[in-house]
Amino acid sequence: MENEYILEIRNLKKYFPTPYGTVKAVDNISLKVKKGTTMGLVGESGSGKSTTGHVVVGLFPPTDGKILFKGQDISMPLERRPKNLKRDIQMVFQDPASSLNPKKIIRDIVGLPLKVHGMVSSREEMEEKVSKLLEMVELPPEDFLYRKPTDLGGGEKQAVSIARAIATNPSFVIFDEPTSALDVSIQAKIINAILNIQKEFRLSSLFITHDLSLMRNISSYVAIMYLGKICEMAPTETFFQKPLHPYTQMLLSSVPVLTKEEEELKPKGIKSVGEIGSPINPPSGCRFHPRCPFATEICKKKEPKLVEVEPEHYVACHLYSSE
Ligand SMILES: Nc1ncnc2c1ncn2[C@@H]1O[C@H](COP(=O)(O)OP(=O)(O)OP(=O)(O)O)[C@@H](O)[C@H]1O
Ligand SMILES: [Mg+2]
Repeated sequence: MENEYILEIRNLKKYFPTPYGTVKAVDNISLKVKKGTTMGLVGESGSGKSTTGHVVVGLFPPTDGKILFKGQDISMPLERRPKNLKRDIQMVFQDPASSLNPKKIIRDIVGLPLKVHGMVSSREEMEEKVSKLLEMVELPPEDFLYRKPTDLGGGEKQAVSIARAIATNPSFVIFDEPTSALDVSIQAKIINAILNIQKEFRLSSLFITHDLSLMRNISSYVAIMYLGKICEMAPTETFFQKPLHPYTQMLLSSVPVLTKEEEELKPKGIKSVGEIGSPINPPSGCRFHPRCPFATEICKKKEPKLVEVEPEHYVACHLYSSE
């Protein structure tokens, strides 16, 4: 039987040893992405979103746990991953400026993965393919093929990163905050390009953002991360209609809305307080307990498990556990 999930992350940990102690950036998370869907990964700064993406794409091997792609184990270091799978998973990095070689022209930047994976046999063929890719992200090739990243604006650089990520015709792309560094006027253009590409290529993706309204437009499922853990996961609409975790409610109560109806749907009585703790010395029990208005004794002592409270809706919170 064909696997329903393109990506499965099982009990993934990524720890970084530092002079100040071990940073538990990702600390035992599990999630699955269904073929053809987008999973939004949301959380405050430092919650481990980028690290999750970096481990999936193979930038660092996991400290522990497994990553399955199309049913195959890809938890090994990048150089030992099957080559066809390397081509099949791509990432658009959080900082477009530093991920593009400033000395190269756009044709060579976007064309490099095509060369590496033997997908073009001549310079003409490469130029032709790169031109098509640039058109997809609305960068007219005649204006952009021979320019360098240093001549481009933030949105244009991000468009180049997207073109490079889709060059090898991947089936899975990780978008790491692809618009957060951009002006609002340019954000919409980039998001449209991503939506068109997702449709055209039937892409599956992991979309990292801390913008909940954007996530609502782009993803079919959402996972909320807090200090290296997943605290809630659900289909996007369920998530907005019935957020369960106090942290999720806190995030949602600070989203600006347009209509009175939407305002009424927003969780009440939970304000954003405090700051995210340290991933070196995370709080005991539930990592959110120091900021949680509903915390009780058990929350300080025992870590809540992520449990399925209704079909496809998971939450890790003692308020909803039956123990
Ligand atoms: N290479 C590294 N070495 C040491 N610590 C790291 C490394 N990479 C990430 N971290 C730490 O791991 C934690 C999670 O970082 P990560 O970049 O994954 O967070 P994030 O959710 O993407 O945050 P942001 O929204 O700011 O991008 C942070 O405390 C960060 O400082
Ligand atoms: Mg990040």
